[in-house]
Amino acid sequence: MERWKTIIEPFRIHSVEPIRLTSVEERERALEAAGWNLFNLHSADVIVDLLTDSGTGSMSSEQWAGIQRGDESYAGSPSWFRFLAAVQHLFPFRHVIPTHQGRAAEKILFSVIAGPGKAIPNNTHFDTTRANVEFTGAEAVDLVIAEGREPATIHPFKGNMDLDALDAFIRERGAASVPAVFVTVTNNSGGGQPVSLENLRGVRAICDRHGLPLFLDACRFAENAWFIHEREAGYSRIAIPEIVREMASLADGMTMSAKKDGLANIGGWLAVDDDGLAERCRNLLILTEGFPTYGGLAGRDLEAIAQGLSEVVQEDYLHYRIRSTAYLGEALDRAGVPVVKPIGGHAVYIDARSLLPHIPPLAYPGQALVVALYREGGIRGCEIGTVMFGRHPDGSETSAAMDLVRLAIPRRTYTQSHIDYVIEVVRWVAERAGDLRGLRMTEEPPQLRHFTARFQPL
Ligand code: F0G
Repeated sequence: MERWKTIIEPFRIHSVEPIRLTSVEERERALEAAGWNLFNLHSADVIVDLLTDSGTGSMSSEQWAGIQRGDESYAGSPSWFRFLAAVQHLFPFRHVIPTHQGRAAEKILFSVIAGPGKAIPNNTHFDTTRANVEFTGAEAVDLVIAEGREPATIHPFKGNMDLDALDAFIRERGAASVPAVFVTVTNNSGGGQPVSLENLRGVRAICDRHGLPLFLDACRFAENAWFIHEREAGYSRIAIPEIVREMASLADGMTMSAKKDGLANIGGWLAVDDDGLAERCRNLLILTEGFPTYGGLAGRDLEAIAQGLSEVVQEDYLHYRIRSTAYLGEALDRAGVPVVKPIGGHAVYIDARSLLPHIPPLAYPGQALVVALYREGGIRGCEIGTVMFGRHPDGSETSAAMDLVRLAIPRRTYTQSHIDYVIEVVRWVAERAGDLRGLRMTEEPPQLRHFTARFQPL
């Protein structure tokens, strides 16, 4: 394999979904009807959908076979035991609690361990994780290393936790008010950036010193393990499942969305070692999700996830996955489009604020860029900037730390020619960046405004 430079998709296409090719005029009408918010579009009007990598991937023929095998017994189904074995093969925690997706696992865990006066440190909380922490009255604190906040700074493990800041934070608050420390692998909100095993060991040592449990938000664990395999000294010959088990061995539990590295369209789980904690979580699970051997899932979903977990750690898949994301990012970088570097695992993040310096943050440069990419090429990306984070609980509005546009790559879904098309469209828009105008928000809900806000171009 080493002889060839071309990285092919390590699969053949077995069933296809047609894409309807729309015109600029049609897309302008769709934008107007959507109030210039791409969350309001009909996905049938999108040509290449890079809104999220969550639940949007393709399943393999073996996963579809598993769907057929799914056993829908209420309790103790063989599909549950296959799921349990697949999870514990990679993450040998004593208790595995299935949920309908990642945020349900977060909701259950934080309902049990967090609450007013408590604080949860993380490298960077994903939005739902932060929201679930805050919903209990606790505080969500982001302590990623300084390089993780600088789009252009190159660092092999930009998702690492700032160990000194973590130690200082726990000392200042007192270990009694920190119910757990979280590490998100890879660090989605920071650009899909990995965390090294060395850093995880450092976090573990701090947790041990203070007697605190460590949890992984492991949504993109396989992509993180691949970066360790490629970049961390001593791991180039270690198999991916072993690296994953080493990550797990440093933690006391995990939350997971199987919609990412479970290679499934739905699902998740919470896993813990502590018997008492597991019992309290299971009691809540029964209230909100379902019986402990299916959680919020059908037997067939458990099968799809079990099979997905065996496919996601295959080296051919991960090599293709990480290289093909980098292929998009590196092409944009070569074309002079400012992107977060190095390129992360699941997405390319364009720095819209630096591409559109003439649009002030409060005229939403990220939104201007996602609208232009859709108008010109039917590409749907996601604004991660002032639209998403600019409004505060006290009613004020300020610019977010960065105005980024995320192009998230669904797993095993688009081919290189789709990505070449995306590169061509982004370059075309970037060459005419000076022509883009900002937007004004005309309607906004009180919380999570980015999902339903409406805009008018300025
Ligand atoms: N943690 C991380 C790091 C995530 O990226 C997500 C979801 C979740 C937790 C929640 O999982 O969606 O199954 O409830 N991220 C998606 C995204 C939505 O687009 O990045 P979920």
